[in-house]
Amino acid sequence: MNDCSYFPQCRGCTHWDKPYAEQQALKIQNLRDLIVQHELPHCEIEFLSCGESQLRHRVDFTVQYDEVTQKHIFGFYNQNKQLLDIQKCLQMAPSLQSIYSEFTSLPFFYKGDIPIKKGSVRLRVSPHGQKGCWLDFSNVEIKELLDDQILLQKLLDSDFFVEIGQKGKSLIRLNGNLKLADPQPRSWFQTYDRYGQPISMQGLISDFTQPSWESASLLVQITNQWLHEFSKNQTSTILEFGSGLGQFTLSFLKSGHRVTACEVDQSSSQNLSLHAAHLGLSDRLQIHVADFHRKSIVDTMPIQQTDSSIYEWAFVNPARSGLKKFTEQVIASSADYIIYVSCYPQSMATDIQQLSSCYDLIDLKIVDQFPQTDHYESVALLKRQHHGFKE
Ligand SMILES: C[S@@+](CC[C@H](N)C(=O)[O-])C[C@H]1O[C@@H](n2cnc3c(N)ncnc32)[C@H](O)[C@@H]1O
Repeated sequence: MNDCSYFPQCRGCTHWDKPYAEQQALKIQNLRDLIVQHELPHCEIEFLSCGESQLRHRVDFTVQYDEVTQKHIFGFYNQNKQLLDIQKCLQMAPSLQSIYSEFTSLPFFYKGDIPIKKGSVRLRVSPHGQKGCWLDFSNVEIKELLDDQILLQKLLDSDFFVEIGQKGKSLIRLNGNLKLADPQPRSWFQTYDRYGQPISMQGLISDFTQPSWESASLLVQITNQWLHEFSKNQTSTILEFGSGLGQFTLSFLKSGHRVTACEVDQSSSQNLSLHAAHLGLSDRLQIHVADFHRKSIVDTMPIQQTDSSIYEWAFVNPARSGLKKFTEQVIASSADYIIYVSCYPQSMATDIQQLSSCYDLIDLKIVDQFPQTDHYESVALLKRQHHGFKE
């Protein structure tokens, strides 16, 4: 294992000083402690590794001009909120590292010598090697870059797809000039069918995806295995929370399942809907867009229509904030099983505790999406207790 020369100054990773076996034991212990704290019954925890480094296919970082050295710094903040100049990050897949090095060698100036002061950047490499950058700079600096053209032309000349600002506008050349056009979804990420065959996901560089399609493939594989093993029918009805661009949704649809997806993000829901239609899968997909921490599905339906679907499965993959009020929706759904995927085990444990009046935790796994850090992805399977069945 290589050593990271930025450890321990960089706060991105906390575990470079620990052998991987120790990291594994710490993560299992952490999850076990949460289970005990939340008074959940003992459950064996399986640990699945996706590799010890170089997993990531997207990276978010800051670019900032340093008045002292009169150079730009590209990197991550340390404990003292100082920006560390990062040239090589061992978390990045080699293809991402290569475009990071290319990107950070470009001149971030306009009108000759005026530096971009500060901004946020996301870089992505796609499964087919396309290069993408999302520049979230101030409106004033974006306007200057568009007028000046030099940096942006260099990015386009180097085959970067460029997305700009919170609205994810795409940078295009029109009659020799640079323009901002409507957002253009592309295949920046992929999911898998139950046989492990890739399915492209259409989205913006700025849309959420898992950090790596290699680790995501393991999450999808576990989920599909459970669905296959425990479904009464070949095809099931699934209530989903947090569908995003469809990492799991598309895989379920491809297997013939029907999905009712509940998602707050308009852009990713629209991209999922368009892509499902393109793949001929939309007849089995319904997407409800709302804040489901507060609303129930019925609130998002036309007046007087009720949610008459019987769900056999609930699949939830919330953000750090967990499910909140959606736990009630899951309990009311009649789902025989729940699959809970989470990058934040604290909120997952709280939600499972809440669900434990009707559901038993029957399987629990860690997928180590974030090696060298104290983060990990948890994947839990819950089964409805017999008395909890709605007749
Ligand atoms: C961890 S991401 C998972 C996305 C997707 N399953 C994937 O793997 O790419 C969590 C998702 O939950 C959605 N979300 C967060 N809060 C929500 C809420 N209150 N109601 C509905 N969806 C929410 C986010 O927009 C995001 O798409």
